[in-house]
Parts: sequence; C-alpha cells; structure tokens
Amino acid sequence: MAGPRSAAEYWSSPEVVDAFVERNRAPLPYEESLLTTAAQRAARDGALRRVHVLGVGGGRELPAVRAAAPDAELHAWDISEAMVDRCRRFVARSDLGAVHVRCGDLTDLPADVPPADLVVGVNAVCSYLTSATARARAAASMARLLRPGGAVAVVVQQRRGRPDWALWFAIRSFATRLRLAPGEPGDRINGHGDDRLLVHHYTARELRRMFHRAGFEEIELQSLRSWGRSRGRPVPTGSPNPLLLTAERGAGPAR
Ligand SMILES: C[S@@+](CC[C@H](N)C(=O)[O-])C[C@H]1O[C@@H](n2cnc3c(N)ncnc32)[C@H](O)[C@@H]1O
Repeated sequence: MAGPRSAAEYWSSPEVVDAFVERNRAPLPYEESLLTTAAQRAARDGALRRVHVLGVGGGRELPAVRAAAPDAELHAWDISEAMVDRCRRFVARSDLGAVHVRCGDLTDLPADVPPADLVVGVNAVCSYLTSATARARAAASMARLLRPGGAVAVVVQQRRGRPDWALWFAIRSFATRLRLAPGEPGDRINGHGDDRLLVHHYTARELRRMFHRAGFEEIELQSLRSWGRSRGRPVPTGSPNPLLLTAERGAGPAR
C-alpha cells in the first residue's frame, strides 16, 4: 500500500470524493448549533454581511451557514478542484442565495480576499494540516479573513476524544518522544481504500493555544460529548468526539 498523500492529492481522488459526498449529505445538529452560536457572537456588531467557509467539500454545511447568516454573501473555498466542482453543482440545485465557490488553500488564500464577519471550518478541515507551521498559518489566515470582532467556528479531530484513541495516542506520543515513530504525537494515518493521508488530532490545550497565538479572544472550546450532555443528547463512546471551538478576532492587527 502507498504511503500517505498530501491533503490536496487525497481529496482530489475521484473515489475519495464520491465516497465522502455520498456519506456526508446534510449538516449535523451540533454543527447547526455551533454555527448559530458563532453567528450570534459575530452579529453583536450588526448583521452578518460576508462569511468564508473553508474546506467546504461538497457543500453539505452550506444550508446551516445560510440559516445562521440569512443575508450574508457566502464565499466557499476548497483545496480540491473536484470538491469545488461538487460544491458548485450542489449550490446550483439548492436555494442558497449568493454563494461563490473557489479553489484555494486555506493557509494561503489570495491577499485581496475581503474580510468577513464569520469564518467556518467544520468537519476536521484543520486536521489535514500536518505540520505545526501549517496549523499556525491556518489560524493566522483565519484571523486575516475576519474583521476585528468577527467570529470563527471550527471542528477538529480530538486526540483524547474516546478511550481507545486516547490510549493509542498516549503510546504513539511516547514512541515519537523516543524517536521510535515518525511525525508528531497527534498524527494518525487514515483514509479510504488505498488512498491514505495524515490526520492531525488536537489536544484541547494545543487548539486553544493555536487560536490564542493568532490573536483570537474569548475562545470557547468543548467536546462534542460535553455539548451533547448539555443538550440531553448523549454521544456514544465510539464517537470520534471532536473538539468544537468558537472565538472572536481581537481588535489588534492580524498576526
Ligand atoms: C472532511 S472534508 C469536509 C468537507 C466539508 N467541510 C464537510 O463538512 O462536509 C475536508 C475538506 O477539506 C478540504 N481541505 C483539506 N485541506 C485543505 C486546505 N489546506 N485548504 C482548503 N481546503 C482543504 C478537503 O479538500 C475536503 O474537501
């Protein structure tokens, strides 16, 4: 079996795109709730006029983004042309209002992209950034894509989200420290069929620090399980139990 591919290569594989879009068709209740919370935070300064949706894939989350920001212009981005094509087709057959879908790497979007009130990156988009440098660039890029006071809504894979993964990552972390395993403690190879890629699983501390360093404030972070508990919607032990984050861009210049 071939080694892991880059995120751009992996997410351009026709088999991966078909399987992903087939399996992921609608926003999930916790995503709707996270987007509503983030939109309310951003709307303290007035109605939302623009939203950037990063790593949009086939566009599954766009109806929830539209519900949270009814009057905003939506700008959707993905690193994979194949996903951009799927998303454009999804937008064409949905009643979503103004949505512009373009190809772009979320760590390196064009400098003239206008800032938004809300930036969205759900379903582990930031987990496909497999170096600390890329993750820092992603958080800085999200800050640059926001006006001061704008909000971000992010969902990432969690390292200690379920007991078997927590144990696996603890052993891996020990092995990487002894240089017996390559990469970083949070890295895990995953994929579809023979297509493999590296997925970074965050600790809550790591994710909070990444956004804090990029100039975000009022960072609110919880796991899916704690969100479920607070809503009377128990989350099964086998769930990946991702981390859910909302935060606001501080008033200072983007770093
Ligand atoms: C798990 S899918 C999620 C898609 C969509 N957000 C959803 O929830 O259905 C991850 C998406 O992120 C995109 N992606 C990965 N790395 C990216 C990057 N650096 N910049 C932009 N998009 C990226 C992939 O092409 C893929 O479409």
